[in-house]
Amino acid sequence: MYSTHHRRYRSTYHTRLIVGLTIPLQLFIGATARGEDGYRLWLRYDQLPQEMIRIYRSRATSVVVPGNSPTLEAMRTELINGLSGLLGQGISAANEPVGDGAVIVGTPKTSPLIARLKWERQLLSLGEDGFRIRSVKLGSRSVTVIASNSELGALYGAFYFLRLMQTLEPISSLDVTQKPRVQLRMLDHWDNLDGSIERGYAGRSLWNWSELPDAIDPRLRDYARANASIGINGSLLNNVNANAQILTDDYLRKVAAIADVFRPYGVRVFLSPRFSAPIDLGGLKTADPLDPEVSTWWKQKVDEIFKLIPDFGGFVVKANSEGQPGPRTYNRSHADGANMLAAAVASHNGIVIWRAFVYDAKPGYDRAGAAYENLQPFDGKFAANVLLQVKNGPIDFQPREPFHPLFGAMPKTQLMPEFQITQEYLGFSNHLVFLASMWREVLDSDTYAKGPGSTVAKVADGSLYSQRLTGIAGVANTGSDRNWTGHHFLQANWYAFGRLAWNPDIASRQIAEEWIKMTFTHDPKATGTIARIMLESHEALVDYMTPLGLHHIMWGGHHYGPAPWWDTEPRPDWNPVYYHRADERGLGFDRTAAGSNTLSQYHPPVRDYFTNLTTCPEAFLLWFHHVPWDYRMRSGRIMWDELALHYQRGVDWMGATRKEWDALAGAIDPERHGEVAKKLSIQERDAIRWRDAVLLYFQTFSKRPLPAGVSKPAKTLEEYKAKSLVW
Ligand code: GCU
Repeated sequence: MYSTHHRRYRSTYHTRLIVGLTIPLQLFIGATARGEDGYRLWLRYDQLPQEMIRIYRSRATSVVVPGNSPTLEAMRTELINGLSGLLGQGISAANEPVGDGAVIVGTPKTSPLIARLKWERQLLSLGEDGFRIRSVKLGSRSVTVIASNSELGALYGAFYFLRLMQTLEPISSLDVTQKPRVQLRMLDHWDNLDGSIERGYAGRSLWNWSELPDAIDPRLRDYARANASIGINGSLLNNVNANAQILTDDYLRKVAAIADVFRPYGVRVFLSPRFSAPIDLGGLKTADPLDPEVSTWWKQKVDEIFKLIPDFGGFVVKANSEGQPGPRTYNRSHADGANMLAAAVASHNGIVIWRAFVYDAKPGYDRAGAAYENLQPFDGKFAANVLLQVKNGPIDFQPREPFHPLFGAMPKTQLMPEFQITQEYLGFSNHLVFLASMWREVLDSDTYAKGPGSTVAKVADGSLYSQRLTGIAGVANTGSDRNWTGHHFLQANWYAFGRLAWNPDIASRQIAEEWIKMTFTHDPKATGTIARIMLESHEALVDYMTPLGLHHIMWGGHHYGPAPWWDTEPRPDWNPVYYHRADERGLGFDRTAAGSNTLSQYHPPVRDYFTNLTTCPEAFLLWFHHVPWDYRMRSGRIMWDELALHYQRGVDWMGATRKEWDALAGAIDPERHGEVAKKLSIQERDAIRWRDAVLLYFQTFSKRPLPAGVSKPAKTLEEYKAKSLVW
């Protein structure tokens, strides 16, 4: 239907005349002057192929968005810029539909035309964020109506409509109903007040604390737009390893300035408070959550925050974890701590997100069981405005983990999954890996909590246990790099996170294809190749990093390259040797009843399935079992050979992918093509390093030769040990 001719970037984007438009064209300022630098993300709005313009043109002739609220203005600007760009002609705002093709957007309150349609009942059933898009006749005129109960919902609808065109979908007889399945769709920024980002690989923090609140970086608005375009509605601004200073009046005013920019786009701000703030800032002697002075201090602080930021979302708390203070410092429980803060924010409709990333340092302890042991006993003890935020897996954002046993184990507690978009353990911003596939695996995992079909997705959307509040969080991969995420392809993970938070059942392929068409090309051949690369990338990364259930064998501290030999961290459970347990006999962590028995935290069908070697997926073999080197795998090969071949497969994939990418030159603009090519060569170098270093090290235990087909390492183990990979 569309041409395979690939269009290069056109610099007319910012010079096009927009008729009848009074709003300044400020979106993505400067993006065009710099060429294809990736700044515009998936909201590029370059001219579509001519055939599509011919089809679309009569369906989008003017934009009818009455009203002057900041959100309505934002949506009008977006539609005018978007449609004008995509259609290659000025589309103007109008008060009334003139002729066919008006795009009418708003709520029954903001738009008299929408009020006349009498859709109130249907719209009410879509909640605040849902929307309806329909092609209808108004008198003799064919128009498209995008309606919602709220202005924000209408904005989501406007972005949805633009996406249909960006991805070349039909728009002539639309009947779309959309409603997010999860209420709180949130990015967690681990940004420090000095501008650095914990586990951030795309530059510095986007929040320029020293200039705020006086100077506002226009980029903040583009950040909010990008989030709104995929339905993200919350943003935690500071690191969960929190600095109490964020709660001082000075900083709260800076936070309020950011919140003002985000507000029209429906992104509410959250903060991470340091649990000891009453001592650090308030001069109290204790931060004991049951001490009345402490709770009074928090109430006053919260009142102060809401005065400055009336729609403040609430707190995200890391307590008694990795050195952070918390209620257990005072022999109180996590529930005591969470509920005290929850009481402080409750009258303002605020919420508390309490993190379940908690583990202790006890001898002989299995870290994979720690969160469950610490929190499961408190099921039913958390206040109604508390969500317990649980990482996708029981250890820590590894390339592959089984689902966290807390999912499905706390029926009387509101749980929300936490994913990591930034690639702390997955090659930083150097490795191309599409994380939708990994998140899908977790969301589709069956907890069997209420029999078959009790998936993590159903925990997340609240349907399994009728949760009142629902949420999904992703640790952001954004930073001050011009292309936001340090690698053009990793923008796709921000995009995918938003799409999955809106609908935890969307297929990875759909997300990939949408994103490619919006971001790179409509050329079906190139789209097909890129989609395949993206969809295969996670398995390939697991192959060259941690196949068969290996985990946490990264270099200590920075977690970039391989260091399975690492054993110098102060805590055993920060050392790779703790996790892989290689010895003369075999490899892997025995979590069955014969070992740490943390498998018992899963519901019986899951537990049995993972315990039984004949049913345990080989992808999790070494996660749950200590397996002899000559254990017979399903392929008939012994475990050692299979392991080595996985590493080789990952490296081979990298080589093939690099060639495929090279062949796409000409189908992708040279700037981005070249930048991605450079990253792919780093990724290939790293994959080889992973294979060689890990296999040489494990070979000192397995004492077996590398099987046929696996390349000989270029260096010795000592050489690999001497130097960590650099990024
Ligand atoms: C990981 C990460 C830390 C982070 C922690 C968390 O352990 O390495 O930097 O603070 O997760 O999620 O709190």
